[in-house]
Amino acid sequence: MSAGRFSTLDFIEMKQKKEKITMITAYDHPTAQLVDEAGAEFILVGDSLGMVVLGYEDTLAVTLDDMIHHGKAVVRGSKNAFVVVDMPFLTYEVSSEKALLNAGRIIQETGAQGVKLEGGLEIIDAVKSITGSGIPLVGHLGLTPQSAGQLGGFKVQGKDPRVAKKMIEDSLALEEAGAFSLVLECVPWQLAKVITEKLSIPVIGIGAGKFCDGQVLVYHDVMGLYTGKRPKFVKQYAEARNEMMKGMQAYISEVRQSIFPEEKHIFTMSEEALAKALET
Ligand code: KIV
Repeated sequence: MSAGRFSTLDFIEMKQKKEKITMITAYDHPTAQLVDEAGAEFILVGDSLGMVVLGYEDTLAVTLDDMIHHGKAVVRGSKNAFVVVDMPFLTYEVSSEKALLNAGRIIQETGAQGVKLEGGLEIIDAVKSITGSGIPLVGHLGLTPQSAGQLGGFKVQGKDPRVAKKMIEDSLALEEAGAFSLVLECVPWQLAKVITEKLSIPVIGIGAGKFCDGQVLVYHDVMGLYTGKRPKFVKQYAEARNEMMKGMQAYISEVRQSIFPEEKHIFTMSEEALAKALET
């Protein structure tokens, strides 16, 4: 890696050297600090923000301003990772001009290194317009949550040969249009392997098997912080919510019993000063 943050070239080189790439989501400053310090090369400010942080049912209600607000915090919190911000629903589908302006806002206002958007040939003009202006772009195929309604829900994509064929065509079109990386979500491992081998840009999988060039997961799933339904492809690496609950309950209990604050947490003034303050 060159000095400073990871770059698109570092990722291409990692693919060529068969070094696995770790991407993880983050939505705020302390989380960005933690994942950056832990060594993740790639941070995604995903629109999963809607579900894991903002309490929505899905990603559709997330706005460009939401993404920018959280993207800024993540950029401030990280030093080494390449930060990519998701373009939310309806910020790139309407026209390629609008897509470029919205991608530009993300880059200018957050200081992030790139943007990610969902879809293949149907949004290829938007992709070309963004990459043509020099903005690094990550594609996203397979289960694309912004169009989950059309896909029939949160289901594995590409078991059907026609869908698999289209996914291969879409992935090649995205690479051709200038995407520097591709996220494949919830795809049979054999199809993900074929796409990973066909593309020269790194493929980052989530529920797409181990033959991808890298993996991405949602931070709250990895740490055990999300209480909603956990997809089959998630592996939980920590019990953070349980630990945090223990800490919070201990705090509440100590306040109730007047155990906290202790001597070491308090400030003292002289009796004399207090007496003076009380003089009438
Ligand atoms: O929004 C998100 O977190 C994502 C990942 C699941 C890839 O797009």
